[in-house]
Amino acid sequence: MRYLPLDEIKEGMFLARSIFGEDGRTLLAKGAKLTKGYLQKLQVLNYTHLFIGDRKEDLDFKDPINEQIYSQAIGAVREIFLDAAKQQTLEFKTVLDVVDFMVDEVMDEDLLYNIFDLRNHDNYTYLHSVSVGTIATIMGKNWGLGRSDLKELAAGALLHDIGKMCVAGPILKKEGLLTKQEYEQMCFHPKYGFELLRSAPGVSLLSAHVAYQHHEREDGSGYPRGLAEDQIHLYAKIVMAADSYDAMTSGRRYSRTLWSHEALAQLAADVPEKYDPEIITLLAQSVALYPIGSVVLLNNLEVGLVTDVNRADIKIEFLTGEAKGQIVALAPNALLKIVRRLS
Ligand SMILES: [Fe+2]
Ligand SMILES: [Fe+2]
Repeated sequence: MRYLPLDEIKEGMFLARSIFGEDGRTLLAKGAKLTKGYLQKLQVLNYTHLFIGDRKEDLDFKDPINEQIYSQAIGAVREIFLDAAKQQTLEFKTVLDVVDFMVDEVMDEDLLYNIFDLRNHDNYTYLHSVSVGTIATIMGKNWGLGRSDLKELAAGALLHDIGKMCVAGPILKKEGLLTKQEYEQMCFHPKYGFELLRSAPGVSLLSAHVAYQHHEREDGSGYPRGLAEDQIHLYAKIVMAADSYDAMTSGRRYSRTLWSHEALAQLAADVPEKYDPEIITLLAQSVALYPIGSVVLLNNLEVGLVTDVNRADIKIEFLTGEAKGQIVALAPNALLKIVRRLS
């Protein structure tokens, strides 16, 4: 599987990751053979890159959360966010059911977060929420949290930005820099989120506090309350790191999308002022440094493609040299190492 810009993708290649619409429904499913029509349609929908397999076998890898649950989660988040925007009574049952499934999935598999979903303007907020939910759940598991704690964490993570639905629509949709007043409005979204969640049936107060605290920073420079260090709950610190990591790696407008290893380096550079060092270490143990599909330069000067990644090793297929086509596993102490990511 490779991550390629649309203009390098040819008809007949296979889609290696499904593309979801804003309501969570599959627009184009994993395994679809790409036609000219599909590629044109995806261009119209503003997709710039796709995950591609040249062969059917390239599609044989495992996601941290299976696509069906992922898709249900997108739909459930969208539904509750839209209800919040319309100031309707919020019914959290569907979201909490999805949280149960997500936690079960993460508990059953020992996987790193290795996906970068494909987003466009319409589905960004919902896919961001589900990704932050997934990353935070994997981090919580690696921290040693049990199932019921993980559910509180996952619910808070999935709903961390629900308060954005209380910010005026034109500010949310604005395509340029926000004015000071607009920015101040935006900074209320954690508090609005807390208000929506604190009395919601089935949602724990701790999950509500995750939404309240997810923009705080270790040195007190965050918002809305300027909390610092121990005043910030562990779960909020986890979601804070997952949220920043996801924003950096998902091509938010205005800023360049970072590769996973670049985002981790940037977050590590903000330790200990902004982020708790232990939490950034936990994040680094929970996400793939070089996700599946990365093309990398190896220290023997050959080029390889990452075909699989888990906590113990990375599998590389040689794209150049005498071993071209062969797959090797790079254990952490192997002589063969990745020097840098090429694409
Ligand atoms: Fe936020
Ligand atoms: Fe967020």
